[in-house]
Amino acid sequence: MAEDKGIKGGLTNYGDKDFASYLRRSFARSMGLSRDMLDKPIVGIAMTPSGFNNCHRSMPDLVEAVSRGVLAAGALPRPFPTVSLGEVFLKPTSMVYRNLMSMDTEEMVRAQPVDAVVLIGGCDKTVPAQLMGAASADLPAVQLVTGPMMTGRHKGERLGACTDCGRFWGKFRAGEVEAEEIAEIEGRLATTAGTCAVMGTASTMACIAETLGMSLPGTAAIPAVHADRLVAAEHCGKLAVELIQTPRRPSEIITEKSVENAFRVLMAVSGSTNAIVHLTAVAGRLGIRIAPERLNQISDETPVLVDLKPVGEGYMEDFFAAGGVGAVLREIRHLLHLDTVDVTGQTLAERLDNEPDWVDRRVIRSFDDPVSDEGGLISLTGNIAPQGAIFKRAAATQGLFEVEGRAVVFESLEDLANRVDDTDLDITANDIMVLKNAGPVAAGMPEAGYLPIPKKLARQGVKDIVRISDARMSGTAFGTIVLHMSLKAAVSGPLAIVQNGDRVRLSVAEKRIDLLVDSAEIARRLESHQAPEPERRGYRGLYSRTVLQADAGCDFDFLTHEGCSKEGSK
Ligand code: FES
Ligand code: MG
Repeated sequence: MAEDKGIKGGLTNYGDKDFASYLRRSFARSMGLSRDMLDKPIVGIAMTPSGFNNCHRSMPDLVEAVSRGVLAAGALPRPFPTVSLGEVFLKPTSMVYRNLMSMDTEEMVRAQPVDAVVLIGGCDKTVPAQLMGAASADLPAVQLVTGPMMTGRHKGERLGACTDCGRFWGKFRAGEVEAEEIAEIEGRLATTAGTCAVMGTASTMACIAETLGMSLPGTAAIPAVHADRLVAAEHCGKLAVELIQTPRRPSEIITEKSVENAFRVLMAVSGSTNAIVHLTAVAGRLGIRIAPERLNQISDETPVLVDLKPVGEGYMEDFFAAGGVGAVLREIRHLLHLDTVDVTGQTLAERLDNEPDWVDRRVIRSFDDPVSDEGGLISLTGNIAPQGAIFKRAAATQGLFEVEGRAVVFESLEDLANRVDDTDLDITANDIMVLKNAGPVAAGMPEAGYLPIPKKLARQGVKDIVRISDARMSGTAFGTIVLHMSLKAAVSGPLAIVQNGDRVRLSVAEKRIDLLVDSAEIARRLESHQAPEPERRGYRGLYSRTVLQADAGCDFDFLTHEGCSKEGSK
């Protein structure tokens, strides 16, 4: 039992020890807790249930299982709520609220009388927000994820949110699927509790949390509805109590080496582009920054080993059954920093030495027989994205890797919505679609980078076209899409001055995206460009004033380790 080991903590570690403890105890007793319980150390459980977060539907069961583990190890579990971000229910985009959730998590972990914390998240923005908050609070913490959904079935085919959502919607737009069938499919895409069933942002972040060492080994991919998920939750509770006895803080676990390992795994699983922004933000909380050149080096050296949607074939349930993150780590062992330490205190080398080596090669390939020789994500640079851009080559069409085309410009999300399906739209498959004003300041950086194929082209059978923007795209999307364009000036950078008919050049080989307009003309246009007025009021005003660009993880300037925008761009 924890108290047998002489743990001091819980209600006794704040303020005037005598009076504060007495006062807190008396209020805690109004919750029906016995006096004995109040002498135990306390494990906070940051829980995130919400009627607007389907991915966290299993939260009550998880909280109960974590609590069981905490009690069994001799401490007092205290669940508390924070903001919860259900990906599809937030406007203009959940991304705007990730930093809010990270602040909520950090401040509540710091302010409440907890000695260690278990963070339970799952849906896209929740795990990065919790990791960011935990990194800044730097109290012993364990990340638990809700786990992925199981697949549904439609006419004998497996369906999983949300790659199949987009696929069938594309067919519906092209007239290949009738309204009746799409209504049926709607009820079969997301059929269990848990996060999206593919290697989208949520699952990528779960793999990253495990690789960083913040989650229990072997837990990232356990399906939400699997009994093992509850066992993992119970273990997290026990581990949190151990962390009070032998503190290991997030700052000892999230290091430059573990962040590099996480980028490797991101490449090997062909993970979501969003995860680059999130991992950059988590690392930035501890002053760790991985340069774009290093990211590209990691990408070039690390093969894609995992054959899952949206890029490949399988679903997260297959990944779990195939061996999960541990199997991937073993395949790229020679590329990893093996002396990183995880939340259990073991090094990565120790973890990998002690794991069974079974793996299902249909889902997780060997290093020598990869899905593709190089990583799925690269960083681009060029005169149109001075601070860089991200390109998911694994999800793109190879025939569009080296192209020069005419810009077809959409001034805003609204302009895009109004005109993209116009049958008179002046566009061909060889053009390059450019979306403006969709970055962090102008629009909160929604997942609008996956511009729909204009109906005119979709009807001609065009499946892909080069699309560029400062937005993000869903981790479950695919296409030849340049994203996260980081501009020197958030709302008046070079992307803002691209005009219809300009020539744009994409070269994946050179890792460049350029506007083929001479620099004097670019300077002249920038000079006369009027940036739209940013929001001023409330949280959105704070967001507009302080959010950094994608190259700095879209964190607020005052939340990064530097506490200012010294290295990140505004
Ligand atoms: Fe929550 Fe996809 S909507 S993970
Ligand atoms: Mg998503």
